[in-house]
Amino acid sequence: MPIKCVSPDYVMKLYIETFGCQMNVLDSQLVEGSLARDGYTKVSTPDEADLILYNTCSVRDRAEEKVRSRLGRIRGLKESRPDLVIGILGCMAQRESGKLLSAWPHVDLVCGTRELHRVPELVREIQESRRPAKATDIRADFVFDTMPRPGVDGPLAYVSVMRGCDNVCSFCVVPRTRGRENSKPLQAVVDELKGLIDQGVKEVMLLGQNINSYGKGLPGEPDLADLLAALDPIPGLERIRFVTSNPWDMTEKLFRAMEELPTVCEYLHFPFQSGSDRILESMRRDYTANDYLRLVDRARALVPTIELATDIIVGYPGEDDEDFEATVRMVREVEFLQAYIFKYSVRPGTTAVRLGDPVPIPTKKSRNRILLEIQDEITLRKRKEKVGQTEQVLVEGPSKKVPEIFSGRTRQNHLAVFPPDGTVPGDLVDVLVADCTPRVLRGEVCSR
Ligand code: SAH
Ligand code: F3S
Repeated sequence: MPIKCVSPDYVMKLYIETFGCQMNVLDSQLVEGSLARDGYTKVSTPDEADLILYNTCSVRDRAEEKVRSRLGRIRGLKESRPDLVIGILGCMAQRESGKLLSAWPHVDLVCGTRELHRVPELVREIQESRRPAKATDIRADFVFDTMPRPGVDGPLAYVSVMRGCDNVCSFCVVPRTRGRENSKPLQAVVDELKGLIDQGVKEVMLLGQNINSYGKGLPGEPDLADLLAALDPIPGLERIRFVTSNPWDMTEKLFRAMEELPTVCEYLHFPFQSGSDRILESMRRDYTANDYLRLVDRARALVPTIELATDIIVGYPGEDDEDFEATVRMVREVEFLQAYIFKYSVRPGTTAVRLGDPVPIPTKKSRNRILLEIQDEITLRKRKEKVGQTEQVLVEGPSKKVPEIFSGRTRQNHLAVFPPDGTVPGDLVDVLVADCTPRVLRGEVCSR
């Protein structure tokens, strides 16, 4: 046992930092909740902590670089306090596994994406034995229900409904870090949601690496549309969103569910990655630019108020000016509300490794900048169209930048800011939009 536990009054302190996607944010909450059962409270700096955890991302090298830099920085802490426990969780832990322990002798714990429920037990083991521990079985079924949340904070919550990815996109490390697809049983999602609503949650974001293939392998093979239909009638639930959907698993049934179920927001995160068929083929994305455009047409025909967001990679190996132009055309033609644009980063273990990284960094940067500028124009135009209109907003609370102003989102995922005017987080209000910036709509509450 660590010396500090000898005093019954001593409260063990946890510092946890999260990198990457929403799934990681949720995973960190679950780890925090499990450690709270062992008496840990969260602190805001590594200096005060008895346990330091980094929940990591491997999607691009930069994300891993940040973790390496953090590990370098806290080396001194461990030297002065040998009872400190340092752990690496999540994708990078999964990818590098035991190598992390040899590369960073001050790291005690390496726990991959599928065994996070074991963190408390492993930390105890390390404290008792003073030996490092590793849990990185990629074949383990994710244990969905054993990890409690630390309690909800506000009206929004993430719920993971499937994990892993069975696809083989050439650039993507996720199938190697998160393993095979594994869906949470439908009734278990319903029960989890009911519990969250009892604690004041009004809007849920359903998470899955490949969410529109939800249900594979479950009894009766329910699909995502079935799950949405089961969640929609739950009393007190106002809104559902879900990420991330892949083009090849998109069905008419799902579009219809989005239109017909009142709680499901008309917003779809729908990565296309590249507008060039040649590049899409090399990426092993199972659609052409035209297939994608046809899906967008169907989405807009069946869900007339839908807004789309997307992910794009620039500088993928072999991407020439013509390929890039095809991506530009796609962005202009579809008119997304948001586009997340990434510069290609070689990931070890992916099939694209053999293609090298031939596109020069300045070319990647300039393609990135060009797309950002085009997208910003489109986003601003879409925000301007909202000026003078009334939008339903779910109040989230004080905005990050100006706490006297409240923020929230519209159903189509525009960020809106407004004076609180007596509203409280969780209220559904109508906001009259007075003006906008490229980032937000500004307005006033006009009815609630
Ligand atoms: N479907 C997954 C996608 C994870 S990666 C999920 O939602 O969890 C998120 C985005 O990062 C991808 O859509 C892709 O645009 C980008 N990305 C993935 N691998 C990349 C790489 N090697 N280089 C640059 N961007 C990458
Ligand atoms: Fe990655 Fe493609 Fe799956 S982007 S998460 S391998 S759908």
